[in-house]
Amino acid sequence: MPSLLLCDFGNLAREIERLEAAGARALHLDVMDGRFVPQLTYGPVVCEAVRRASTVPIEVHLMIEDPARTVDHYLDLGADCITVHVEAVDDVRAVLAAIRRRGAFAHLSLNPSTPLSRVEPHLEHCDGVLVMSVEPGFGGQAFLPVALEKISSLSEIRRRRGLSFRIGVDGGISTSTVAAAAKAGAELLVAGSAVIRSGDYQAAIRTLEHLAREAA
Ligand code: DX5
Ligand code: ZN
Repeated sequence: MPSLLLCDFGNLAREIERLEAAGARALHLDVMDGRFVPQLTYGPVVCEAVRRASTVPIEVHLMIEDPARTVDHYLDLGADCITVHVEAVDDVRAVLAAIRRRGAFAHLSLNPSTPLSRVEPHLEHCDGVLVMSVEPGFGGQAFLPVALEKISSLSEIRRRRGLSFRIGVDGGISTSTVAAAAKAGAELLVAGSAVIRSGDYQAAIRTLEHLAREAA
């Protein structure tokens, strides 16, 4: 699934149209507040514009402090999935429940340095776990292999505990890393620069999906 982070925001509607025509199954929106991560991107206003311009599900990745305070804005505008960071939330259970209550998918994310033990108590209460494979904040960074161990462990825990949450990975996904991530058990693969900087969105999405399918 493509991340819009590096797209041409001066031509947002055109970018969305191109990504959908290229086969994007969903759009990943990176909301950054300049506090939880160094960069500041956009908030509900731009997410709503994307929602109106797109026909595929939108997934909002909240890299912000205290997301519980603003999660309703994203639910109101029709986000299909909201990801919050375990490091940024006090009452994880309550935020996940608030998202699910409104009919959206609730995903939990963790940074490369955050141990899996931080998300383990919440696996029954979320619809997905997004493993960060770069330090969140910027597109175009190199994939950190520590993510692979977390993905494999999550896959194993899910099997052992008979759970059904989805496993995602975000950061540094490219033709050289996608197979390892899919083989480890990642099902939701977020790709920013590998798609947006490719010049040919359709070829990039097809290649990544093909490599992931072969490896899974
Ligand atoms: C990073 C964001 C990612 C980013 C991925 O903080 O959460 O979604 O857009 O970009 P690439 O694929 O270039 O690492
Ligand atoms: Zn993201």
